[in-house]
Amino acid sequence: MKWPFHIAAFIEDRILQASSGMEGFDDAFTPDVRPADARFGEFQANGVLPMAKRQKKNPRDLATRLVEAMEDKSGFSGDDLAMNVAGPGFINFRFMPGFYHEWLDNIRTHSDLQTACRGAITDKVVVVDFSSPNTAKQMHVGHIRSSVIGEALCRMLEFQGARTIRDNHIGDWGTQFGILLMAIHHFDTRLDVENDEALEELEELYRRGSKLTRESEEKLEEARQELVKLQNGDPENLSRWEQINSISQKAFQEIYNLLGIRFDYVLGESFYQDSVENVYTELESLGIAKESEGALVVFHPEHPRFKKQSFMVRKSDGASNYATTDLATILHRIQEWKAEEIIYVTDGRQQDHFEQLFLTARKWLKHHPEINMPKLRHVWFGTILGEDGKAIKTRSGEPIKLKDLLAEAIERARVTVENKNPDLDEKERDEVARHVGLGAVKYADLSQNRTGDYVFSWEKMLSLEGNTAPYLLYAVVRIRSIFRKAGLNPGEGEDAADRVETEEELALARQLLLFASALEQATSDLRPHILCTYLYDLAVTFSSFYNANKVMVDEEPTQARRLLLCARTLTVMETGLHLLGIETLEKM
Ligand code: ARG
Repeated sequence: MKWPFHIAAFIEDRILQASSGMEGFDDAFTPDVRPADARFGEFQANGVLPMAKRQKKNPRDLATRLVEAMEDKSGFSGDDLAMNVAGPGFINFRFMPGFYHEWLDNIRTHSDLQTACRGAITDKVVVVDFSSPNTAKQMHVGHIRSSVIGEALCRMLEFQGARTIRDNHIGDWGTQFGILLMAIHHFDTRLDVENDEALEELEELYRRGSKLTRESEEKLEEARQELVKLQNGDPENLSRWEQINSISQKAFQEIYNLLGIRFDYVLGESFYQDSVENVYTELESLGIAKESEGALVVFHPEHPRFKKQSFMVRKSDGASNYATTDLATILHRIQEWKAEEIIYVTDGRQQDHFEQLFLTARKWLKHHPEINMPKLRHVWFGTILGEDGKAIKTRSGEPIKLKDLLAEAIERARVTVENKNPDLDEKERDEVARHVGLGAVKYADLSQNRTGDYVFSWEKMLSLEGNTAPYLLYAVVRIRSIFRKAGLNPGEGEDAADRVETEEELALARQLLLFASALEQATSDLRPHILCTYLYDLAVTFSSFYNANKVMVDEEPTQARRLLLCARTLTVMETGLHLLGIETLEKM
């Protein structure tokens, strides 16, 4: 194997070399190398146990012989990786200074790092369904989670070689349109796509319209009729519907631009309206769905809850719903995009919906022999809480608009920056405020285990101490300034580097080598906080190194290896933050 490589893959390769032809190891042997508990080493190979079981051999014996063979034939020496057999027959691997040296010497750039991170998901087609707000309404604070988590997951998957398809499944076909269309008539409203406040006006119109429908049976019926007209393709209603959607999308796009989020497709619920008929027919004829009180529903008798709780795929008035559209969407993603995995990023309240959706889709598509069923995963998240421990709201009890929240983040960051560094010029200050403010909001969200709720706190997220974006951004800035002061570019001045030596250097090198493992775990669990924790640990480890080991010293080899450690830390830090969607800075 040639550098740069994936460390776990490298160890597997060496194990396979050593075990080939060895007595007791068959062709089905897989080393199963994974990150280890830090007390025992950096990696652990677990594959000997099932192998020994198959061959009815003593696993410790096999493992011991394997370690001996590796020492003999695979070029491992005590200087590279220390190995030992543990427990019933695991093999632990611990990095040694020679190995650190190799890694540090070979993994220099963002792209080296990427090569070292490519893994099992290389070339896999992964559809990520994220953000997906409903149109005719503004995005509120809750939408930050799906948007930011979804974007980070896409970047992490792509970095490891997956081919992602980013799809914004907007809710553009709901009952809200009946009310809006009725209200447009009633108040004789003129929609103006160019107006910057157009979405706010639509929201207001919706509020007034739904008040009317609550007060008058007649207006409610009118709203229903408008919806039916829209669904039957009435040209006037369709053109208003299009206007409403472009107003919404324009406002969404401003937020996506600010957050650095992009999509390959925006295929909302309306896109699937012609495919729902097929869903009804197939589910009914396959006996998966049945009529119940006029509606078409699916039960899952094998499931403790869903044997009683139905999954409605057609309403009693004959209309399709969220479930029908989602079923049609899966088929589209398989047929058109050859999806091998589909990831849905939504809040935790939709867990039942997705569980029932996945069960239904699997039963349905099993009958399509040409289809390879993709892996379906629901990446759900908890609620953002206010300081009072309840779902976050404005003072007057309204949902907080995402646009306002982001503007406030930038404003608050500007104040912090002005206090911290009054020497920045106007332009620099704007840039720092934007990166720090938006980074803080994103990082506060990403650094929490997504399945929990978290309390939104400006003070905490903008703090320069602790596991926050400002702290990490500051670590990057500090490394950049070391190079600036030395008159060097990162990566320069390291030719004479000798092997890492001091305790802090070793600790930093070890942490750098663990990047690929942390990323891999974050991606396989689809939990960005694992990457955040890693980066925070890296920043802390760097800081101890920097406090205890002077970089610019007289002995050339020492200075060179410390500059090298600084440059590698910068590469890993910037790469990691970029994967989280956080833009780094030169100064702050
Ligand atoms: N529009 C939905 C909402 O606002 C989210 C859609 C998620 N994606 C999906 N395929 N169901 O809650």
